[in-house]
Amino acid sequence: TGMVTLDPGFTNTASCTSDITYIDGDAGILRYRGYPIAELATSSSFLEVAYLLINGELPDSQTLERFERRIGRHRLLHEDFLSFFTSFPSSGHPMAILQAGIAGLATYYEDTLNPHDPYERELATVLLLAKVPTMISYIARRAIGLPLLYPDPKRGYVEDFLNMTFGMPYQVHDIDPVVVRALDMLLILHADHEQNCSTSTVRLVGSSDANMYASVAAGVGALSGPLHGGANEAVLRMLDTIQSEGLSTAEFVRKVKNKEDGVRLMGFGHRVYKNYDPRAALVKATAHDVLGRLGSDDGDRKLEIAMELEEVALSDDYFISRKLYPNVDFYTGLIYQAMGFPTKMFTPLFALGRLPGWIAQYREMMDDPAKRIGRPRQVYTGEPERHYVAMHRRE
Ligand code: CMC
Repeated sequence: TGMVTLDPGFTNTASCTSDITYIDGDAGILRYRGYPIAELATSSSFLEVAYLLINGELPDSQTLERFERRIGRHRLLHEDFLSFFTSFPSSGHPMAILQAGIAGLATYYEDTLNPHDPYERELATVLLLAKVPTMISYIARRAIGLPLLYPDPKRGYVEDFLNMTFGMPYQVHDIDPVVVRALDMLLILHADHEQNCSTSTVRLVGSSDANMYASVAAGVGALSGPLHGGANEAVLRMLDTIQSEGLSTAEFVRKVKNKEDGVRLMGFGHRVYKNYDPRAALVKATAHDVLGRLGSDDGDRKLEIAMELEEVALSDDYFISRKLYPNVDFYTGLIYQAMGFPTKMFTPLFALGRLPGWIAQYREMMDDPAKRIGRPRQVYTGEPERHYVAMHRRE
């Protein structure tokens, strides 16, 4: 079987080559298809970035319009599918429902399952980008018993997602363009991050030639964990705890350093960034803008706690020596909360943002001549050969 190298957590094993995203973790650099993340975040739109990640080049205006229109046409969910959302407890976690819903899309679109057929694969791409926002807003509505709203083809992608989530039937709901722009930017910042846990999961599942829905659904499962996408929810719960227990930030940081009850400073640290996460800097600036516009006293107080936590941590040797900086999730929850999203909806927003990256990476792998089924090895540490003992002879 040859030599096997043990690499728990894959800290130095590359599983593929990729042309999509470049990260220099020491310098705090992130680029999609060569474009610096800050330029895309300030000048582009989420669907344009999705096109870029998936196709490799920025679209011209006609191509982008066609892409947006095609996605716009597919935003409705099949009527039979609506009963799906009522078959779980309304308190059930949105990530669990989302994962099941995305996997379930495969049952409605059986002519889009072949990953090697360019037509089917393109349609699956469009269907996922079109239907996932509708699905997420339906999960949010159902959790609080509000009627579901159909997608409105006259609205833009992000604006309509906000309308389906927060609007009311027969009421023209003006969505604040500042909020639309802020969410658009947050989705761009989450759109890809090379071989992170969920993307590697999408690739591993897809390496068996499993369809795009099955692979992306598996990515949603990976993203749900608190060490990955679930961190945005965990940060807000952490801020809540600090606030309700009346802890000072210094006391909380001391608990973290002493590893009391395994508590970590959520939203801090990253496997690849050993410098300030460039996305976190952009999110922090947006948090100030959005909270300045929509902020409540509670949100403002939480932002203060978060900034204090950052300051205390960044001047503490524990964090300095381990190169732990705020990551993308440290400030996002505060913005989502100010926008009106319940805490449980934060990680689905990350999933919506990461969707283009998962799709782009899945497609890149399918076209890679070096693609083989993913099959990690192991180092066996169990018993050597031994022999079955009859029940009556066991001690
Ligand atoms: N708070 C306190 N200590 C930490 C933290 C933290 N957030 N992160 C890492 N450390 C310590 C860790 O205890 C270890 O110290 P020691 O050597 O004394 O045991 C050292 O730093 C290295 O940590 P690690 O766990 O080996 O690092 P990793 O690369 O395996 O894990 C991580 C990366 C992101 C899972 C981790 O930093 C973490 O748990 N952070 C909190 C959760 C979080 O914010 N996740 C979101 C990541 S960014 C967006 C995303 O990917 O979804």
